[in-house]
Amino acid sequence: MHNFLDIAYFQNKFVPFKEANISIATHALHYGTGAFGGMRGIPNPENPNQILLFRLDRHCNRLSDSAKLLNYDLPADKIQHIIIDFVKKNKPSKSFYIRPFVYTSDLGIAPRLHKIEKDFFIYGLELGDYLPPEGISCRISSWYRQEDRSLPLRGKISGAYITSSLAKTEAVESGFDEAILMNTQGKVCEASGMNIFMVRNGKLITPGFNQDILEGITRDSVLTIAQDMGIETEERAIDKTELLIADEVFLSGTAAKVTPVKQIESYHLSTSRPITEKIKQKLIAITENQEPKYQEWVYTVDC
Ligand SMILES: Cc1ncc(COP(=O)(O)O)c(C=O)c1O
Repeated sequence: MHNFLDIAYFQNKFVPFKEANISIATHALHYGTGAFGGMRGIPNPENPNQILLFRLDRHCNRLSDSAKLLNYDLPADKIQHIIIDFVKKNKPSKSFYIRPFVYTSDLGIAPRLHKIEKDFFIYGLELGDYLPPEGISCRISSWYRQEDRSLPLRGKISGAYITSSLAKTEAVESGFDEAILMNTQGKVCEASGMNIFMVRNGKLITPGFNQDILEGITRDSVLTIAQDMGIETEERAIDKTELLIADEVFLSGTAAKVTPVKQIESYHLSTSRPITEKIKQKLIAITENQEPKYQEWVYTVDC
């Protein structure tokens, strides 16, 4: 059971989390017509009266874009103000995760996005490691990531997560920790809620934006960090066999941070992962605001 933060934002006000409830007839529940964000925050290790939020602006922009795809005008700066108030009201004392959600809040049937009431809520929960940080095993999923021509993949649309859910359960129930999904072109795409990277011959490679991936904010951070470290990066289509013989593979995401992959199907990867480790440690230091060069990625909330 999760430890939810005490206060939620619901129907334009802050209320106790337990009182933020919706009807069983809510439109989005039936049609997957919602979109969410997911961002992490931590108490400042240097100052207990401050909360550090990682890449707040990017998360708010992506949620605003997701809302746009649902025919809902929700400006990023409005989301940002409410998230800051949400954090001040909760003042979390441990590492936490914020889940803002936009959705068709009308009661009633008929799938549509026009002429329908929409709303926005936020709740949060304490969150430590989402995946084992020492490394995981992955199954290549029999489910394929959707295509952008049938689902707006640049938004985090709730209905799209049926595929992630199928893939994750298939992987776990067959003895693996996580799923790697291919796209409909048969190229490596991403995991159930993370982007994927591999290292071959010192080069860091990840599927490009034209591969039906989610435009991950951690992915963007990893690419920038690697380039700043002088590591060559490439965004391109990746074949399954390249992954199996890669020098290093890791997943990136807000929940998973940087998680090394130890095994894919029956293929065991090297336990020496110099590039993964360097990037992982740098990212942790950045989120704790210990890297002046990346200070603009960390938003400080004074509580
Ligand atoms: C499907 C999917 N891919 C990738 C990611 C990683 O994105 P981010 O780094 O922005 O959390 C997520 C998580 O948000 C996701 O749900």
